[in-house]
Amino acid sequence: MRAMWPLPIPSIIEFVSSQCEFSFYLYTFMNKKQAYTIAVVGATGAVGTEMLSILEERKFPVHQILPLASARSAGEKISFHEEDVTVQVLDKDSFVGVDIALFSAGADTSKEFAPLAVEAGAIVIDNSSAWRMDPQVPLVVPEVNAQALEWHEGIIANPNCSTIQMVVALQPLHEAACITRVVVTTFQSVSGTGKDAMEELANLSRQLLSLEESNPTVYPHPIAFNCLPHIDDFLPSGYTKEEMKMVNETKKIMEDDMIQVTATTVRVPVFISHAESINVETKEHITANEARAILSAAPGVQVYDDPSHQIYPLQKDVAGTDAVYVGRVREDESISNGLNLWVVADNLRKGAALNAVQIAEELIRE
Ligand code: A2P
Repeated sequence: MRAMWPLPIPSIIEFVSSQCEFSFYLYTFMNKKQAYTIAVVGATGAVGTEMLSILEERKFPVHQILPLASARSAGEKISFHEEDVTVQVLDKDSFVGVDIALFSAGADTSKEFAPLAVEAGAIVIDNSSAWRMDPQVPLVVPEVNAQALEWHEGIIANPNCSTIQMVVALQPLHEAACITRVVVTTFQSVSGTGKDAMEELANLSRQLLSLEESNPTVYPHPIAFNCLPHIDDFLPSGYTKEEMKMVNETKKIMEDDMIQVTATTVRVPVFISHAESINVETKEHITANEARAILSAAPGVQVYDDPSHQIYPLQKDVAGTDAVYVGRVREDESISNGLNLWVVADNLRKGAALNAVQIAEELIRE
């Protein structure tokens, strides 16, 4: 029977490829993988852990999972599809055979290791701030600018958590009424800082309630029963880096430099989910009812807005879910064309891990 196929199958496909202009696509299709080797850099962290469970939940076609972290976690076991997988120490040879590397271990780690991963043949989806504003690197929220994936050169950046949830809500309003200015104040949970900050909130809360002495180590001031108008480092302008991420990343993702954005970012004593009070000014007039209808039809958005029944999105309720929730939609009565919105999302999921996995899904769909 073997004599029926005197040539190996790849050679047959190559022959057909040379004969027919469309056969390139046939060749690509035949070569398309059924399952992928995925590395998660920072697999033991707050976002990395979420990346692993979202890959499982969404049944991403994983051939092999490679959890990577620092030497502190070497040898730890993580469970993936009910199998124990050993955490390995990240090093320059970690990416041999990896198809997609999801990075969430801080900007320094990304700057050093993402280029090595690309050199080894992987596509990197990076959750840090290392590459976001690099003009060679697309900054992607699939509901807003999936088309930017077409020009990636190996690294794709995942935006800042507070920017992601804002642009998912803004883009449909921008398409309908052309947003000219955004004023945003955030109420960001401690999980955005990482697992150490979540422990600090729990410990300080307990210590304060039992009248024990409490000393913050992660934040400059106690985060328990307190709000800190300080996220990331201060710049000479008086803004923080987090605030300027919201300004610059919004323009890049929405592909519109004309949108004026100003932000105040605040850390609040909440474990998971960020809330944002957003004021938008538009060129065209749009009523609150029209805005609710547009947002209800928008991808990735859920409208929760019935003040007469105390229905509006709450950080505690939204934790563990995937959508960007919008409530308190009101016309801004101080200007002719403006709206106020309250926007809430799980920062570990849509703000980080889920967005990264959605990018990976877009890549394999392509
Ligand atoms: P580890 O747990 O071994 O410290 P979080 O943002 O929740 O603090 O998590 C950060 C993640 O990044 C953790 O998985 C952490 O691993 C990992 N990480 C931090 N620094 C490095 C590094 N230099 N090399 C590899 N992984 C790192």
